[in-house]
Amino acid sequence: MSNWIEVCPLDEIDEEDVIPFNHSEQTFAIYRCPEGEVFATSGLCTHERIHLADGLVMNEIIECPKHNGRFNYKNGQALGAPVCEHLKTFNTKVENDVIYLELNTQ
Ligand code: FES
Repeated sequence: MSNWIEVCPLDEIDEEDVIPFNHSEQTFAIYRCPEGEVFATSGLCTHERIHLADGLVMNEIIECPKHNGRFNYKNGQALGAPVCEHLKTFNTKVENDVIYLELNTQ
């Protein structure tokens, strides 16, 4: 079963930027890539659980603000030490210039 939740208007995220988004005790990072597409991952670094929305976005990479661990935010892949555990990713969609995130429920 899936569950789409509203995140924010598309124009609240600049291209090549990331914002934090919290929903029912979960925290996410929402990205807008240079091509304008939107992606979502779990919000906390898998190394020491620092919020990734304070990090740096470059192309399809998010760099953690604490120890500069890097992930591909499109697929969640950890790209090397100190991060080795991948980020969870979530489906997104944009309808009428509003971003939605799909929560997976079981
Ligand atoms: S907390 Fe993110 S790389 Fe260490």
